[in-house]
Amino acid sequence: MIYRARDLHFQYWLDRHPVPALRGVSLEIAEAESLVLSGPSGSGKSTLLSLLGLIEPVQAGGIRFLGEEMAAISEGRRNELRRHEIGFIFQNFQLFPTLSAEENVEYFLIRQGIPTLERKKRVKHALETVGLWNRRHHRPLELSGGQRQRVAVARAAAKHPKVILADEPTASLDQQTGREILSMLDALRSDHQTTLVIASHDPMVLERAGRIYRLADGLEVTS
Ligand SMILES: Nc1ncnc2c1ncn2[C@@H]1O[C@H](COP(=O)(O)OP(=O)(O)OP(=O)(O)O)[C@@H](O)[C@H]1O
Ligand SMILES: [Mg+2]
Repeated sequence: MIYRARDLHFQYWLDRHPVPALRGVSLEIAEAESLVLSGPSGSGKSTLLSLLGLIEPVQAGGIRFLGEEMAAISEGRRNELRRHEIGFIFQNFQLFPTLSAEENVEYFLIRQGIPTLERKKRVKHALETVGLWNRRHHRPLELSGGQRQRVAVARAAAKHPKVILADEPTASLDQQTGREILSMLDALRSDHQTTLVIASHDPMVLERAGRIYRLADGLEVTS
């Protein structure tokens, strides 16, 4: 198992009032699985992704990631796992506006300490795969929305992560581009056994899911 999450509870705080976002979520995710988190707006999908991505701390319950209990490891180790094993694709891309497409893809590889030659090779391969090598010098604002999303996919893929977490990766795209993005993610899964966890309510994404985990109001819907 890549993930074993047990009885996760999570709440945000707003003006000193707790806002419950997860109310006892348990799930296991196997290697090379393609799992879609679905559910209405506010059901806790993004929150669950940020816990699985080791971005938010576990408040109650537990997460085992690659055999390590998250509550038992140091912050340094957690950062290392996040940096090396997890690729993120955010709905709003979160690309660095002042960096070119090429530099955006390269950025995390530098932080990972990948040597220059290997890094250049991975960046080129990732940008070629998403069909944007000829746009490598463009900054995000000089790219279309779909192209930005493809840079985000290239950036996540170049890391060679164990798992890619994607939050509504098709939401701002037309159907054709959305389908291309999903095919790229599927290719990563079949070529590199990359596990995919995608939060989405796009019917096209649900149709292609290996498994669907349905959330409502911070809980799994089982019926
Ligand atoms: N930063 C925050 N501060 C306070 N409450 C928050 C915060 N982020 C999310 N919430 C609340 O937590 C609950 C779960 O939100 P979450 O973003 O996980 O839902 P979601 O399923 O991703 O929704 P969407 O489909 O709209 O993206 C919601 O009730 C939301 O209002
Ligand atoms: Mg969300």
